[in-house]
Amino acid sequence: MKILLTLVIEIIVAIAAGLAFIYSGIYDVSAMRPEGKFSGWILSTTMDYSVKHHAKGITVPPLTDTATVAAGFQSFSRMCVGCHGAPGVQKRGRGFNPEPPDLSEGVSDLSDAEIFWIIKNGIKMTAMPAYGPNKTDDDLWKITAFVRLLPKMTTEQYQAYKDALGDQPE
Ligand code: HEC
Repeated sequence: MKILLTLVIEIIVAIAAGLAFIYSGIYDVSAMRPEGKFSGWILSTTMDYSVKHHAKGITVPPLTDTATVAAGFQSFSRMCVGCHGAPGVQKRGRGFNPEPPDLSEGVSDLSDAEIFWIIKNGIKMTAMPAYGPNKTDDDLWKITAFVRLLPKMTTEQYQAYKDALGDQPE
């Protein structure tokens, strides 16, 4: 009984301390203040496992044909390049927290289904928007097809897409 009472008191104290911290306003929500090591780990690990979990069971259509990739480039150059950059194109990372990763480096560890899920759903509390409400799954798979190629793409190859299909800024 004594143990139970101590536990209840401890929980109440913890909740009170948590509330006091929130209402004190001490926590700095400024995007200019980098995440601490511990909270950064919590956020990025939660994201990694959440994406893995939610992307399970998504069936990936064929992604390699030229028309699919070309359509993907057109959407990418309109909707994504501004934040993420591309081979030979500077990303607009400054001021975002977390920064939009350079997808030429970033997506190697993600599966096709995970990339698709991220583009469709966005990532909470980051600048990564959900495109699901405005685009069909077919459109989103085309973007996925293009993003998949980014890690191996050279500046010249990206430029060739621009020359062939036109640069379409946001
Ligand atoms: C307003 C800026 C912005 C736009 C526009 C944007 N993103 Fe993002 N994106 C982000 C940010 C910020 C993150 C990082 C989120 C994080 O670290 O949890 C991100 C993360 C991602 C990731 C996960 C990368 C990784 O290595 O974990 C993918 C994939 C991605 N975006 C693809 C896209 C695609 C494709 C588009 C266009 C359809 C797009 N994004 C448009 C800001 C943006």
